[in-house]
Amino acid sequence: MISGNARLAGVLGWPVSHSRSPALHNFWLARYRIDGAYLPLPVTPADFVTAVHGIRAAGFRGANVTIPHKEAALAICTHLHETAHRAGAVNTLTFTQDGIHGTNTDGTGFLANLRANGINPAAGPALLLGAGGAARAIAAALLHQGVRVTVANRTQERLATLATSLPEIGPLAWNQRHAALADHALLVNTTSAGMKGAPALDLDLTHAPPELVVADIVYVPLATPLLTAAAARGLRTVGGLGMLLHQAVPGFSAWFGVTPQIDQEVFDLIAADIPAT
Ligand code: ATR
Repeated sequence: MISGNARLAGVLGWPVSHSRSPALHNFWLARYRIDGAYLPLPVTPADFVTAVHGIRAAGFRGANVTIPHKEAALAICTHLHETAHRAGAVNTLTFTQDGIHGTNTDGTGFLANLRANGINPAAGPALLLGAGGAARAIAAALLHQGVRVTVANRTQERLATLATSLPEIGPLAWNQRHAALADHALLVNTTSAGMKGAPALDLDLTHAPPELVVADIVYVPLATPLLTAAAARGLRTVGGLGMLLHQAVPGFSAWFGVTPQIDQEVFDLIAADIPAT
């Protein structure tokens, strides 16, 4: 039920119809009997700044920001959290009387999902494949935990850009990725390879050590070819959907005043329309 006092939030993206965030936040709103609503907000890049000021003026508590606005959102914030600064992107906006607060919960969501799966992110060095926005957020969060982070990317240019933003990372040539598996405790695919309709990630796990944890941020399908190959070798795996659920928690908590729980029911609800393989 939505009254005249309802708290409002939403997700700004272009397009936004694929976003699972409205289903997730509205499930939590119903579960905790909160007078509120969370809306999909399709906004073009040209309209982004106007839209943020508009929803703030209309009393929204805040919003999530998704592709392609995460970098543009940095510039609009009056208060930038360290996570956003280090990630070079904002995925969560909170409006208060003193301004627009921007944070990035992708990296902390990734870490929270590892912990929820019984994995200590700081157990050993991490090898990240990919050097886009997701890699930067995850690398920043791992570095913050004191983890040594190595990054390999298919093309050199993007890796060099990432290394300029996060000089603590150890850049690795793409053709060294197989040899490097032996020296790492955690492998993270941050590329879009393995997504439904895209080619699988070109990675041979033959020489992966038995303790290696394999994480994928791709969650369509739930079991990517990488995760399936890792599980077949007896390696521990962590899928991408959990990160999506965990990155949503701080925003919901800030806008609606309740820290929502992630359990099997929420996972199953969001997983219901995602192909398993
Ligand atoms: P962003 O995360 O910034 O939105 P993206 O276009 O989705 O960017 O690409 C993310 C990462 O996936 C990039 O590092 C990209 O590698 P390149 O810089 O070489 O383009 C990587 N990527 C996409 N498809 C890939 C594939 N089939 N194999 C390896 N890396 C791939």
